[in-house]
Amino acid sequence: MIIEKSKEMMRESFQKSTYRFAHTPPKRFGTDFGIYIHVPFCRSKCAFCPFYKEIYQEAEKKRYLKALTNEINRAEMTGQCSWLYFGGGTPNLLTIDELASILETIRSHVDPKSIGIELLPSIATQEYLCGLANVGFTKISMGVESFQEKTLVANGRKPVPPRHVENLLTKCGELGLWSNVDMMIGIREQAGSTFLPDIESLTTMAPSQVTLYPHMTIRNAADSSSMSNAEQFSFIEKAGEILVRAGYKRKGVWTFGKGDDIYDSSRDELVADYAGFGPTAFSTYGDWKVVNPELDVYCDMHSDKDGRPLGFIGKKTKAADNWRRFARMIYDLESHVSPSFPLGISGFCALLGLTGYAARGKLTGKGILFAHEITKTVVESLPFPIQNPRVVENYNDYLACKGNTGTAHARAAAE
Ligand SMILES: C[S@@+](CC[C@H](N)C(=O)[O-])C[C@H]1O[C@@H](n2cnc3c(N)ncnc32)[C@H](O)[C@@H]1O
Repeated sequence: MIIEKSKEMMRESFQKSTYRFAHTPPKRFGTDFGIYIHVPFCRSKCAFCPFYKEIYQEAEKKRYLKALTNEINRAEMTGQCSWLYFGGGTPNLLTIDELASILETIRSHVDPKSIGIELLPSIATQEYLCGLANVGFTKISMGVESFQEKTLVANGRKPVPPRHVENLLTKCGELGLWSNVDMMIGIREQAGSTFLPDIESLTTMAPSQVTLYPHMTIRNAADSSSMSNAEQFSFIEKAGEILVRAGYKRKGVWTFGKGDDIYDSSRDELVADYAGFGPTAFSTYGDWKVVNPELDVYCDMHSDKDGRPLGFIGKKTKAADNWRRFARMIYDLESHVSPSFPLGISGFCALLGLTGYAARGKLTGKGILFAHEITKTVVESLPFPIQNPRVVENYNDYLACKGNTGTAHARAAAE
C-alpha cells in the first residue's frame, strides 16, 4: 500500500514535466557541479539497453568529436567540477588520443576532481587501461552484466571470458584505477540459477565496487524483463549477502563497495546540477533541464563555433526536485524527517518510521524492498523527450529539424 501510493505520487510529479524544442539557455556552471559526456556509438545494440546510441562509423565519430569540442567550448564553466563521467553507448570506442583531446578541452575551462569512464569489456585491453591512467582517468566502470555465454549472445553482446575481466581488474589495481562492475538480473535468456554463481566468481576478481541492476524497462526503448520485481529483488538481496561475506559494504540499494568511495553517476545526478555534453545528454542548471537532440541534429548545430544550439527545454519544478531528493535519500537506504522537505514528504518519512520501513534514520529489510521499487519507478518514469514525443509541446518542429537539419537549424538560428 505504502509502496504503491508513493510510486503513484512520484509518477504524477514526473508526468507534469513538459519540454519545448527551442534555443537553449546558456550553460553556466560555477560551483558544485558535474559533467557528463555521452558517447553515442556501439558496434552492436544490446537487447536490454534503452540508452541512445548509433552503430559506430568512423566518419560519424569524427563529426561528433568536432561538435563535442564546440559544444564544450560554448559552455561557461569555471572552478572545480566534482565529477566528470563518460557514458554511453560505448565510450571505449574512442581512442586514448581522442579522450585526451576532450580532456584538454574540458581542462581549459575547469579542473575535474575525478574522471570516470564506462567500458565495454570485450574490447577493453590492459594497454587501454594504461592509456586511461596516463591521461588522468581515476575510475572505470565495466558492463560485464553476466558471465554466461548463452545469455550474453542472446542479448546481442560478444561473450567475454571471465579470465579477461579478471586480468583487466588486476591491471586496474596495479594502476590505482578504481573499478566498478555492472551485473544485471532479469535479462533475456538468463537463468536465475546462474546469477549467484556469477557473483561468487566476481568476488574473487575483487573490483572496488559491484552494481547489481535489475533489468528495467525504460521508456519502452528495449526488451522488458521476464522476471517480476519481487524475483529481481530477491536475487539482488542474495547476491548482496555473497558480496557482504566477501568484504563489501552496501552503499546503496544496488551498490556494494569496498572502502569509502562510491561511483554512481545516477545517484549523483539525482541532486547536483550537471552539464551534459553530446547527443541526447541531459543537463540541469538554474531553473532549467535541457536535453540535447540526437546525433544528426546535434552535429549540425555544433558544426561551427557560432550559431545558437537547440534542445528540449523544461522548467524545473520544485515538486519534482523534492521527489528527486527524496529518491536519492531512499536510494542511500536512509529516511529522515527533515525540515528541508515539504510537509507531504516529511509526513511520508514519518509514516515510513511508524510502519516499520525505517528505524533510527535507516531503512529496514522491508524498507530496502521499498527503495528497490521506488528507484525502479524513478528510473522507469523519468519523462525523456526523445523517446516520449507527447511530453514535447512542439515535437513537429524537432521532426522538421531532423528531416532537414541544415535548413531548419539555419531558420531557427535566424529567428
Ligand atoms: C549505458 S550502459 C553501457 C556500457 C557499455 N557500453 C557496455 O555495454 O558495457 C551502462 C550500464 O547500464 C546498465 N543498463 C543498461 N540497460 C539497462 C536496463 N534496461 N536496466 C537496468 N540497467 C541497464 C548496464 O548494467 C550497463 O552496464
